[in-house]
Amino acid sequence: MTDVPLEDDGFNTLTEKITRERGFGCASYKEKCVRRRIAVRMRARSVHTFADYGLVLDRDPHEYELLLDALTINVTKFFRNPETFAAIDGELIPALYARVEPQLRIWSAGCASGEEPYSMAMLMHRYATTQGKRFDRVEVLGTDLDRTSLASAERAVYLEPTLSDTPAELRQLYFSTQPPYRIHADVRARVQFRRHDLLREPFPEPQHLIICRNVIIYFDRVTQEALFERFADALLPDGFLVLGRVETLFGPARAKFAPVDSRERLFRRL
Ligand SMILES: C[S@@+](CC[C@H](N)C(=O)[O-])C[C@H]1O[C@@H](n2cnc3c(N)ncnc32)[C@H](O)[C@@H]1O
Repeated sequence: MTDVPLEDDGFNTLTEKITRERGFGCASYKEKCVRRRIAVRMRARSVHTFADYGLVLDRDPHEYELLLDALTINVTKFFRNPETFAAIDGELIPALYARVEPQLRIWSAGCASGEEPYSMAMLMHRYATTQGKRFDRVEVLGTDLDRTSLASAERAVYLEPTLSDTPAELRQLYFSTQPPYRIHADVRARVQFRRHDLLREPFPEPQHLIICRNVIIYFDRVTQEALFERFADALLPDGFLVLGRVETLFGPARAKFAPVDSRERLFRRL
């Protein structure tokens, strides 16, 4: 048996072209997912074959922007899955502040428009101010492939829907009172953003905590396994890894972590 389709429908030629011309590594993503996203753009441009869609890309470079937008799914929220952030707050943050290193490095990988790294920085700030710790030890890095999302992250101005999971107390502490909502300057000052491709670039290290949620789910299993190894290498001993609620840590890298909260997908690097 082979995975090669009996009939070549032009999908591979098109995805190779996208990778060659725009550096988006289609081959590492789940094929079903990539096909679905391309099909959305094909319908929008009323073309019926992958080959014809390739011609549209040649004629209209703006279509590439729309396609890359469709391929990188940028949905996010502040405190998305609030139970996960409650577990991070209760179980990980005290352990981070107990560390001896002067800086505390937190990396939100695949941060989309910045809500996740800002949420982390808010929890770190609240702990520091209530427990008499130094918030200026904290360095949060948000990275993503998608430049448009990163530009929103840098602007740090948000509208109501993305705040709907934010606990009232944190909302009052860290956002301006009227829309569009701006983030408290002390929190903003500790969060930096950078474009970074998880599949092609070296990882920033060493990290105390890596939060990578709802990103690896789009990658095939081999790519996920390789990423877990790289996360393990980028973390300091006793550093933490946080995955998305529907994501599972598997493969040889699993042995390098101990679960802290299995339900919320919190792990400690051994
Ligand atoms: C669904 S969002 C997740 C946002 C946030 N982590 C959360 O859980 O709310 C997925 C993000 O992964 C990014 N992404 C996809 N492939 C990537 C890659 N190879 N390197 C870095 N980021 C990637 C997308 O651009 C998108 O912003």
